[in-house]
Amino acid sequence: MIDLLSDGPIVLPALLLCDFGHLADEVARLEAAGAKAIHLDVMDGRFVPQLTYGMVVVEAVRRAATVPIEVHLMIEEPDQTAADYARAGADIVTVHVEGLANPEPFLAAAAGVLVMSVEPGYGGQAFQPAALDKLTQLRLRRAEHGLALRLGIDGGIAAGTIAAAARAGAELIVAGSAVIRSGDYAAAIRELQQIAREEVG
Ligand code: DX5
Ligand code: ZN
Repeated sequence: MIDLLSDGPIVLPALLLCDFGHLADEVARLEAAGAKAIHLDVMDGRFVPQLTYGMVVVEAVRRAATVPIEVHLMIEEPDQTAADYARAGADIVTVHVEGLANPEPFLAAAAGVLVMSVEPGYGGQAFQPAALDKLTQLRLRRAEHGLALRLGIDGGIAAGTIAAAARAGAELIVAGSAVIRSGDYAAAIRELQQIAREEVG
C-alpha cells in the first residue's frame, strides 16, 4: 500500500460528486481505475454551506476501500472529532485552521498542509492560481526549516492545472470533478498522475 506521507506525487480522487447510491461500487471502480488513495469531504453545513456526510459514511468507505483514505473535515471545531475519524480508519485527517479556537498545538503536530485552490464547499469550481504562491512559500519554508511536511492541494485540479500545482510543490493532489465527471475514471487518473510525475521528474 502506498505511503501517503512519503510516496508521491499522488492523485487522490474525491468522492464528493460520485453516485452515493452506489458508494461501495464507486470506491471499487476508483480502485480498479488506479486510485492509490481516496479523499472524503466531510462538510457540516456551518463551516461551509453544504452538508455532506459524517462518520457513518466514512466508516462505510473504510470498509469498502483497500487504499488509504484522507478525510477532509470542513467543519467547525474539528478538534472535537478528528481523533474519532482517525480511529474510524482515516489515514490522514485534514482540518481547517479557521475552525480551531486554539490552533497552536495542532500546527506543531501537523504532518502536512493542504492548500485550498477553491473556496471550500463545493466540487467543480475553477482553480484559483493564488494557491500556487502559497505552495511555493510553504515549500521554501519547509526546506529552510528542514520540516517533514507533506504538501497538498485541493480544488479545481484537472489536466490543465495539475502541472503547475505539482511544480509548485503539491504532493497529495485531490481531483474531484476531473475524475468523477470524466466518464472514464482510469483514463482521467492515469493522465493526471502522469502529468504530475513528469513535473517532478
Ligand atoms: C471542495 C472540496 C474538494 C472537492 C474537489 O470544498 O474540498 O475536495 O471535492 O472537487 P474539484 O476537484 O471538482 O474541485
Ligand atoms: Zn476536499
